[in-house]
Amino acid sequence: MTDLQDSHHEKALIIDFGSQVTQLIARRLRENGVYCEIHPYQNVTDESLKAYDPKAIIFSGGPDSVMREGSPRPPKAAYELGVPILGICYGQQVMMHDLGGRVEAGEHATAEFGRAFVTPAESKLGMLDGWFADGDEQVWMSHGDHVAEIAPGFEVYGTSPGAPFAITADLERNFFAVQFHPEVHHTPKGGELYKNFLKLAGFKGDWTMGAYREEAIARIREQVGDKNVICGLSGGVDSSVTAILLHQAIGDQLTCVFVDHGLLRKDEAKEVVAMFRDNYNIKLIHADESELFLGELDGQSDPETKRKIIGKLFIDVFQKHADTIEGAEFLAQGTLYPDVIESVSFSGGPSVTIKSHHNVGGLPEKMGLKLVEPLRELFKDEVRALGRELGLPDSFIGRHPFPGPGLAIRCPGEITREKLEILREADAVYIDQIRKHGLYDEIWQAYVAILPVKTVGVMGDGRTYDYACAMRAVTSVDGMTADYFPFSHEFLGETATRIINEVKGINRVTYDITSKPPGTIEWE
Ligand code: XMP
Repeated sequence: MTDLQDSHHEKALIIDFGSQVTQLIARRLRENGVYCEIHPYQNVTDESLKAYDPKAIIFSGGPDSVMREGSPRPPKAAYELGVPILGICYGQQVMMHDLGGRVEAGEHATAEFGRAFVTPAESKLGMLDGWFADGDEQVWMSHGDHVAEIAPGFEVYGTSPGAPFAITADLERNFFAVQFHPEVHHTPKGGELYKNFLKLAGFKGDWTMGAYREEAIARIREQVGDKNVICGLSGGVDSSVTAILLHQAIGDQLTCVFVDHGLLRKDEAKEVVAMFRDNYNIKLIHADESELFLGELDGQSDPETKRKIIGKLFIDVFQKHADTIEGAEFLAQGTLYPDVIESVSFSGGPSVTIKSHHNVGGLPEKMGLKLVEPLRELFKDEVRALGRELGLPDSFIGRHPFPGPGLAIRCPGEITREKLEILREADAVYIDQIRKHGLYDEIWQAYVAILPVKTVGVMGDGRTYDYACAMRAVTSVDGMTADYFPFSHEFLGETATRIINEVKGINRVTYDITSKPPGTIEWE
């Protein structure tokens, strides 16, 4: 267990027992200006815990049963540090079990999954300030096992039909245990509970983006010294914020490489170059390699083959341009905290989920470069907040995600320059419509795909035989699951008319209403 930050900030520690929603706990803490890290229970020993020096500890939920021999446990020292502990679901059960209570294996009658209501007990608990104003409080339960007997020193502060010990606390030691998940949004007052818990633990809330920016700049300077850094810039939020932060830290020691693979949206290359080179004065290599990419993609229609060609060329091209930068010893990447967290897998074993940045994956080893990853501790919304702190305009910060392979995966089947041109125009009209109707920020991602099919139409007195396209728009929290966006019929009709009238080459427009799963967000 290594401390990512190693700073003077007050820190909370989340011990992960494998819940699907552990990351949300971190979000709740950080919303309160509290720095925290998630570490899997296997990595937290008595020694590492003391070295980390948390001001409060949270035991996450998890899929295991404390009744099973060998099931996960926190280190003993957690109970001896004298800091407040909050145990959630499995974390509650493990706490009760460790401290002398009793947990019973799940039976159908006492298992609770989904919405439940907690009734307050007679004694009041400070941590529940703001709760029960209108009677029982809604919470989200997801448990099979339940606590049958609470540990000595604990009192009950809330009950639910399936959990007589829904909320318990030992106020002497400041140990709190809840059977439900206060971190999920189906526990509407969960945020209050965290806020009160952190207040009780004495956090001042010193984790602000302004402070983070200063520290990050100091750390980059220390790491990089007088050496040069290369940064692959895509124009997406993560790489943009990385580039600007680095530029503020080391100025001209930074060179950005923007690879234009000919699969960008209308005016995208112009906008990125204008923003970074002209506006921020960052050294930028605009590598126009569209001939190379489109040449290699010619005649290819298999989605995986297309992706592989683009991925390989990207690395080659990036390396070619990076080689022209003298004295570069570092490669900057916009890796985020969710990519770094080692989470506990469902099987209970350790599973390290470290994704390599798809654009430059494999490069650092190949090129002998060291990595600079200044966003490693941040969640996506914190990156956006940092972007604002760095003066990046909202129009950049709020941009929809755009995949590395670009329009290639929005042009199913063979890619031709003609199709790409039509696609760019149709996409621009569609996004313009979405913006005009004030819907852009409600949507996770929206784009047009050009379909590999021509259809017959009639325009004026003439017959047309042009491409069909599909509009796609989804809502999502993290891109892992998604719902199609419920546009009004008026919006759909008006947009279809505009696309057909304004874009030469399209005579039919469809709206894709597939959710993910079973669909994916992109067409390929
Ligand atoms: P799918 O299509 O898998 O996409 O539902 C989920 C999210 O990931 C984006 N995506 C990619 N992003 N490189 C990227 O940087 C890729 O190869 C890639 N493929 C999909 C997609 O746009 C969506 O936001």
